[in-house]
Amino acid sequence: MSSPAGQGGAEPTPFQRLGGEAGLRALVDRFYDLMDLEPSYARLRALHPQALAGSRDKLFWFLCGWMGGPDHYQQRFGHPMLRARHLPYAIGRVERDLWLACMTQALHECQVAPALAQRLAESFHGTADWMRNRRTAGEAGCCGLIRADLAFSRRCRWRRRGPPAARSKPRPRPAARWPA
Ligand code: HEM
Repeated sequence: MSSPAGQGGAEPTPFQRLGGEAGLRALVDRFYDLMDLEPSYARLRALHPQALAGSRDKLFWFLCGWMGGPDHYQQRFGHPMLRARHLPYAIGRVERDLWLACMTQALHECQVAPALAQRLAESFHGTADWMRNRRTAGEAGCCGLIRADLAFSRRCRWRRRGPPAARSKPRPRPAARWPA
């Protein structure tokens, strides 16, 4: 019986299963097209620059490496430091869930095999949750920042006095690459 990859018995990477660069580019393009076109993603769209070409390229380059393909992003920009690069954007649960909904819709519309789409969605969830850096309405705390980012706030009183007892739960750091 032939191996799943059909090549030397190695498991195909998610990158290969998506159809390599062409498949991944189609997924990223659909993701940003939906973000641009669907009114329900307007709040997510508003965080991004007016022209999305740069965002499309960066997410595509990053996901190539993240899914086991070529490391285009690292070659161009060095270590992704994804959480740090997202700190300028206010990302709470609402933004996280919009990003995930938009990506889930793109996976569905690109007809990614359900089992792969499900595993990708789970991995995206871990990474997107790690990107949260603000409390959203109803969770407002000091400066609107969550615990992991208190150190970044010079004005925050909690930094001098220590945070109150009700702290946000620590979140597990996601794997730098999928699958873990
Ligand atoms: C949690 C919700 C998220 C929001 C609201 C968000 C939002 C953004 C925004 C506004 C940018 C800047 C776009 C630009 O400068 O063109 C960005 C960049 C980026 N995002 Fe996200 N993002 C989220 C989650 C993710 C996830 C889950 C990934 C990867 C799986 C990701 C990967 C990237 C990459 C690679 C960049 C480019 C970073 C750079 O080089 O500057 N983002 N994101």
